[in-house]
Amino acid sequence: MFFFFILFVTFFCLDGFSKEIITIEIDGSNLPDESGTLSKGKEIYSKSCSKCHGYSGEGLIAPELVGRSSLDDKNISKTIGNFWPYAPKIFDYVRRAKRNDNEEFFSDSDVYSITAFLLKLNNLYDEEVIDKDKLSNIKMPNRNGFILNHH
Ligand code: HEC
Repeated sequence: MFFFFILFVTFFCLDGFSKEIITIEIDGSNLPDESGTLSKGKEIYSKSCSKCHGYSGEGLIAPELVGRSSLDDKNISKTIGNFWPYAPKIFDYVRRAKRNDNEEFFSDSDVYSITAFLLKLNNLYDEEVIDKDKLSNIKMPNRNGFILNHH
């Protein structure tokens, strides 16, 4: 009986570990070896994101996701275009924070697709396929924005 209890606890723990979300680093390391597409990202976005963020990321009940204006203007919101310094972190954020309409996590391939579409909305990406290499190589407009204040 005790043996079965231990067996159960072991499987339960292993299962828990396997679902742990690994942090994607700013240089793109730990990104999965899968890929996604812009068209799939657009489809998912319209279905699961537009009701809060607006059809083109302009913001509705949730913050806008598109914008290139300088952050010097105090009234401007922080968006992917003007704030996020590293593209792989968008993948990390969406994978962690967002769920589909059934409250399930998105697959890694879907997260790639969503990330591609968010970048497209910000005019930062325009290829149909996105993968680890392509996402890691995108240079975000605010890449150097976090260093400027250190003096
Ligand atoms: C139920 C409403 C809702 C839905 C649906 C939703 N979001 Fe959000 N989202 C929010 C809110 C609210 C925030 C702000 C959270 C915060 O600042 O902590 C947010 C924040 C974000 C941010 C961070 C914005 C920034 O620059 O700080 C991103 C990126 C994002 N959402 C993407 C998505 C994507 C992609 C989807 C669809 C898969 C989605 N959201 C679906 C409500 C929503």
